[in-house]
Amino acid sequence: DWTPDSFVEETVEAIQEKVGDGKVVLGLSGGVDSTVAAVLLNKAIGKNLYCIFVNNGLLRKNEFQNVLDQYKGMGLNVKGVDASQRFLDALAGIEDPEKKRKAIGNAFIEVFDDEAHKLEDVKWLAQGTIYPDVIESVSVNGGPSATIKSHHNVGGLPDFMKLKIVEPLRAIFKDEVRRVGATLGIDPELLGRHPFPGPGLGIRILGDITAEKVRILQEVDAIFINGLKEWNLYDNVWQAGAMLLPVNSVGVMGDERTYEKCVALRAVESTDGMTADWVNLPYEFLQKTSNDIINKVKGVNRVVYDISSKPPATIEWE
Ligand code: XMP
Repeated sequence: DWTPDSFVEETVEAIQEKVGDGKVVLGLSGGVDSTVAAVLLNKAIGKNLYCIFVNNGLLRKNEFQNVLDQYKGMGLNVKGVDASQRFLDALAGIEDPEKKRKAIGNAFIEVFDDEAHKLEDVKWLAQGTIYPDVIESVSVNGGPSATIKSHHNVGGLPDFMKLKIVEPLRAIFKDEVRRVGATLGIDPELLGRHPFPGPGLGIRILGDITAEKVRILQEVDAIFINGLKEWNLYDNVWQAGAMLLPVNSVGVMGDERTYEKCVALRAVESTDGMTADWVNLPYEFLQKTSNDIINKVKGVNRVVYDISSKPPATIEWE
C-alpha cells in the first residue's frame, strides 16, 4: 500500500543512489510541487541542492519576499533572483497572449541559465513534475517543465537543459504530493495554496503589461484573496484570482466623473483544472470585496464577477 512515509523513505534512498554526491539545481516557483520536490531533495542530499527562486515581477503582492523567507525558514539552500525588470522589458508592448507566454518563458530560461552558470559543477536539474504533467502534452503547472517544452521547439538548448534530470514526484498525483508534503512537515497553508499559472499576472492583465498595471492588479488580487481567507472561503475554492481588463468605463467619485479600469474576479471549483464551475460566492462577500477594491485601489472604478464555466470558458482569460 502506498503511504506518504514509505514514499519519502524510498524516494530519499532512490535520489541518493541516483545523484550520489553530484550537485543538483532546482527552480522553485512558490507552488506546491516544486516546494515538495525541493524538501525531498534537501532531505536526501542537503547542501548539494541549489534552489533558485526567480521573481518574474508577475507574482502576487509581496509573494516573492514572503515565500523566499519561508523557503529559508525551511532550511532550503535557496537563492532569490529579482528579475522583475528584465521580464517587464521583455514584455513591453506585447498584447498577444501566446506571445506573452513565450516572452515570459524565454526570459525565465535566460535568467535561470545565467544563475545555473554561476554554480560550479552542477550535474543535475531537478523538477517538480508530477504524473499529470507527464501524461499531458502541456504542463499546466508552469515552472521549468512547461517552459522547456515550448522552448524545445524553438531551437538550441540552454546549458542547464543539458543536465541530467531528476524528478522525484513523477509518479504521483497532486493529492499524494500534498500528503507527502504534510509528512515532510511543510506548512499546511503552503500545501493548500491555489494553483497559480507560471506566467502569473502576465496572463491576467489583458493587453499589454506595464509596471503600473501589475501594481493595480496585485492590490486587487490581494484584497480578493485575503478576503476569501478571512471569510473562510479560500479552501472551498480550487482557484481564484482577478483579471485586469483592457477597458475603461465611466464612474463618479464625489462630484467628479472618472474613467478608469474594470477588474473581473474569478473563483472556480475544479478537481484538475480541465473542467471548472464558477463558485457561488456569498453576495455579502462580493459586495464587501467590490467596495474594498474600488475604495482602496486607485485606478479601478468597476468590479465584475465572472460566472462562466469551463468549458467553454477557460479559467484564465488569456
Ligand atoms: P485554463 O485557463 O486553460 O487553465 O482553464 C487551466 C489551469 O492551468 C493554468 N494555466 C497555466 N499554467 N502556464 C501555467 O503554468 C500557463 O501558461 C497556464 N495557462 C493556464 C491555470 O491557472 C489553471 O490552473
